[in-house]
Amino acid sequence: MPVVMPIFGTRPEAIKMAPIVTALQESPHFDCFVTVTGQHREMLDQVNEIFGIVPDHDLNILKQGQSLSAIMTRTIDGLDMLFATNKPDVVVVQGDTTTSTAGAIAAFYHGIPVVHVEAGLRSGNLFSPFPEEANRKITSQIASLHLAPTSVSKANLLAEGVNAADIVVTGNSVIDALLTTVGKDIPFTDPQLEELAASGRKILLVTTHRRENQGDAMRGVGRALARIADAEPELVIVLPAHKNPVVREAVLPAIEGKPNVVVTEPLAYGEFTRMLALAHIVLTDSGGVQEEAPSLGKPVLVMRDNTERPEAVDAGTVTLIGTDEERIVKEVDRLLHDQYHFDSMANAVNPYGDGKASERTVAAVAHLLNLGDRISEFGQ
Ligand code: UD1
Ligand code: UDP
Repeated sequence: MPVVMPIFGTRPEAIKMAPIVTALQESPHFDCFVTVTGQHREMLDQVNEIFGIVPDHDLNILKQGQSLSAIMTRTIDGLDMLFATNKPDVVVVQGDTTTSTAGAIAAFYHGIPVVHVEAGLRSGNLFSPFPEEANRKITSQIASLHLAPTSVSKANLLAEGVNAADIVVTGNSVIDALLTTVGKDIPFTDPQLEELAASGRKILLVTTHRRENQGDAMRGVGRALARIADAEPELVIVLPAHKNPVVREAVLPAIEGKPNVVVTEPLAYGEFTRMLALAHIVLTDSGGVQEEAPSLGKPVLVMRDNTERPEAVDAGTVTLIGTDEERIVKEVDRLLHDQYHFDSMANAVNPYGDGKASERTVAAVAHLLNLGDRISEFGQ
């Protein structure tokens, strides 16, 4: 049987790959050999554990304060050695992290076809998000099969000259992952959060980590959160802090010790999605959270100037607000006190998927390997 090798290394890739790995493992067509780079460690292992994924191979590349070049070179080196003894028939990479692009490049150098999951997202600005916009464009140059989550991402690929026959719109597998946890009321490990859930208090859920926001912009986010906490004593701000010390050093000093701010370690996926469902407002610079929160009907304020995910902006559930301190305070205040504005954003929309992306992905890989017919696409 052909060997398919999913390669991933960070939390969001692990979440979005988990349903695909499960579907590949259940498929009668392939052997599935899971390789992780370990670009993230705790945040990767946390996801794999929840979804019951045991990697067959782990490059274990993480170094504290790692540079982009170190992630790239250590991944390519590690895969180079692995492919010398263990050459898959096809690799599957996801999204736009440096693990993902390094995986694609290493496979390309070994003549292994690359399947790109979540292909075709474009912000239109090479430097924002950095380095993700460049990463995904590079992977698009190399991939044999482009699995676009939506018709918007397919159109981006077509505009860049990718052959229509090599693109399949699958929906985003983040929705498959979300549907495994949503509505299950998974208990919070932290008793503070369980108490908060029972209290019925309004929650502002915040996540931040983007490289281009680190430094002054992130310190401004911290100051904005402190002002919101002081002005709204009934509101509770919940911030599951990314493991990156650079993020923590920028955001936490302004808010630590405030009675209505709860800073936690990264939440296990099921706990995080429960917190999303409980939240009144979501403030984030995350890609995945922008995709999940709209399907739960949560107003999302995105701390970026652009997005490669315009679908929920067009639907009115997501607003791009940048990282200016005044603007963050103003937009949260408006959602808290202007009911009409809140209601107009709190729409449950599902532009990103229907929970069948992993099924379509496996079928598309089978078609690539001449093991099945071309499938009908998401949204058709
Ligand atoms: C990476 C991805 C980004 C993705 C994000 C998801 C790149 C260039 N960046 O950014 O696209 O949106 O993951 O979260 O691929 N750390 C730990 N343990 C962990 C995870 C991180 O200690 O489990 C710390 C390390 O000090 C590390 C730092 O966080 O040096 C940054 O991690 P890194 O993967 O380089 O970048 P992210 O900002 O997480
Ligand atoms: N997430 C999680 N625990 C947390 C915060 C986020 O499981 O404490 C999940 C979230 O549901 C989403 C993903 O992590 O699916 C987003 O990861 P991140 O923001 O790190 O990366 P991005 O999506 O921006 O690349």
